[in-house]
Amino acid sequence: MPDRSSVYPFVSRGDSVPLSIARTEGVWLVQPDGRRILDAAGGAIVAGIGHGRAEVAEVAARALAETTYVVPPFATPSRVALVERLRARWLPPGILRTMFTSGGSESVDLAIRVARQYHVCAGRTGRWKVIGRALSYHGTTLATLAVGGQTSRRKGLDPLLTVHPKAPACYPLRCESCHGRGGCTLACADAFEEIILREGPETVSAVIAEPVVGSTAGALVPPDGYWPRLRELTKRHGVLLIADEVMSGFGRTGREFAVDHFGVVPDLLVGGKGLAAGYAPIGGVYATEEVVAPIAEKGEEVMFYTYAAHPASCAVADKVLEILERESLVVRAAELGVYLAERLRTLADHPHVAETRGRGLLQAIEIVRDRETLAPFAAEHRITARVVMAGLRRGVFFYPGGTKPGPDVICLGPPFIVTKEEIDQIVDVLGESLSAAVAGL
Ligand SMILES: Cc1ncc(COP(=O)(O)O)c(C=O)c1O
Repeated sequence: MPDRSSVYPFVSRGDSVPLSIARTEGVWLVQPDGRRILDAAGGAIVAGIGHGRAEVAEVAARALAETTYVVPPFATPSRVALVERLRARWLPPGILRTMFTSGGSESVDLAIRVARQYHVCAGRTGRWKVIGRALSYHGTTLATLAVGGQTSRRKGLDPLLTVHPKAPACYPLRCESCHGRGGCTLACADAFEEIILREGPETVSAVIAEPVVGSTAGALVPPDGYWPRLRELTKRHGVLLIADEVMSGFGRTGREFAVDHFGVVPDLLVGGKGLAAGYAPIGGVYATEEVVAPIAEKGEEVMFYTYAAHPASCAVADKVLEILERESLVVRAAELGVYLAERLRTLADHPHVAETRGRGLLQAIEIVRDRETLAPFAAEHRITARVVMAGLRRGVFFYPGGTKPGPDVICLGPPFIVTKEEIDQIVDVLGESLSAAVAGL
């Protein structure tokens, strides 16, 4: 059969054709000719329970037949069941309010909107700024790009983006905040307080951050004290704390949410990807009663997106969470995360690996030209893309990431059902692909 995949891209790049995938099953992507590619990235770090489970597809088919479309404010059995499950077993203590969307960017956008509505309804109309961080990604809508710190995704769009203040990233490998201070002082967390004071607390609505940074910087895990410090200082200044767990949530880091590692409950928690594990488009914003109370008192609504909380997506998400619980897959993500980290450390001596890092099944390696100075490869070498291509040739899909000053990162986020043997294969192929990519440069 002729390969017709060249009709697919919106913007064509040279004569490159998208990779053709005919089917997905378990941890595998299957090409039209039957060639199998190990999905070491779970798609875009999405597929927690693994691909192609018939019981999820059956639930989706039944849900579509039962309640095709119902406006988001109406209750349906699948919506109610999902909220009950989230409250009972997944959300951090005190987070009881749920509002669903169709994905991650919409959810972050909604969280920014809810934070603003919370302040306005309580009479604090001057609070609108959302302090983000360098090296962060919160989505591709204009509001989420504005609070994000991934420079390449913002390129050319600046005139369209509201200017919000940015704190430095928490990036232990390249920390610039604690130079000469004899170790980590959490100065990068304290920078948020300095910004709040500089801007005027009465102008600041929220602080937004990823508890474990995803592909933008490659599975950056902060020191244990970082999130508690953010919690303290935001409370002190009446600023809401938004944890963006679109990538890290729903078991990916070996706990239900990454904030659970740090014992912190944010005011607003944002989720996406892992909730339906790629089987349906759905995201959500989860909030404390305190955040919703002023909005309720004013009798205001929070406007929905048409496809938010789609009944089939809710049914699928409920089934995905049930499978995660039934098969203890969050514990498995934690255990296999330890194994993956150990195996990745075998690459730590590679002359072009600056660091291996991560938590649970969200891990990464950072690639540099020079390990001493941490200088990256020149951009024209497109080293990350070369590693990904070399991986595909060897039958493994890696997720590219990275942003200056660490522009070359390979992320790993396999489904939680991955086996130790498959992890061995992933790490072996990663080492080979890196060596192949840098050979001859
Ligand atoms: C932390 C984070 N926030 C938001 C998003 C945006 O989610 P989506 O691509 O579903 O819109 C992503 C996507 O990768 C993400 O990793």
